[in-house]
Amino acid sequence: MKTIIANWKMNLGIRESLALARHAVFTLQGRELVPQIVICPSFLAMFEVHKIVARTRVALGAQDCGPDRFGSYTGAIGTAQLEDVEAKYVIVGHSERRLAFGESDDLIKEKLKAISDSDLQPILCLGDTAEVKEANLTLPTVIGQLRRALSGVNPPKRKEFWIAYEPVWAIGSKTPALPLEVVPICKALREEAAKLTGLSLDKIKLFYGGSVVGDNAYLFLREPEIDGLLVGGASLKIKEFDAIVAAAVEVLQAQG
Ligand code: PGA
Repeated sequence: MKTIIANWKMNLGIRESLALARHAVFTLQGRELVPQIVICPSFLAMFEVHKIVARTRVALGAQDCGPDRFGSYTGAIGTAQLEDVEAKYVIVGHSERRLAFGESDDLIKEKLKAISDSDLQPILCLGDTAEVKEANLTLPTVIGQLRRALSGVNPPKRKEFWIAYEPVWAIGSKTPALPLEVVPICKALREEAAKLTGLSLDKIKLFYGGSVVGDNAYLFLREPEIDGLLVGGASLKIKEFDAIVAAAVEVLQAQG
């Protein structure tokens, strides 16, 4: 299976979100071999979007969550509230949260603990900056992020653990990483995550994110080490989104 995760970030009003969600549902309708699609709208749009995707093959995800099920965390959304709108997935530790909002490894760990106590599936984001890449420190950096995020967190109750490798330098830059660079990183992260969680290798899913568009999606998706894509900007454009889904269909067909 291949999965496309659409991260709409701080974009789209409620009406536009509904239109895009309807389009995603429509894209999968009546087709046999299709990727799994997870859409992550703004918190404000989630309640309305959940009505559109309910009982369809499109799943709902959140872009972030608070460090508990509910409680005194002004401005945050708890994991229990996300379950309330039938979200199934939640992105945690996105580099924009780490950099623009100063989220620490400790906070990300608290969020992962809260997710562990919920029915949600975490999508943990890890990534290197341009400086780290230049210093040839990508692998130790992302492995370190993974270890710190998972230290003291109970192995997930869920059957799978999802990780997105998103180089900070590639996000929104029109310069994606090369599949050739991404594959060994995914492989190493999968092995480390299996050790840390006690899950088998096939229960650890690895995604790539950073300037994915219709034209390059196939090159990532055809790699067996890459289970899918986390897409920002291109997921807001119907033409690009359709091309990414078409690339996934092509890969699935080739795999038989
Ligand atoms: P991008 O963002 O596809 O716009 O580069 C990816 C992400 O931040 O998840």
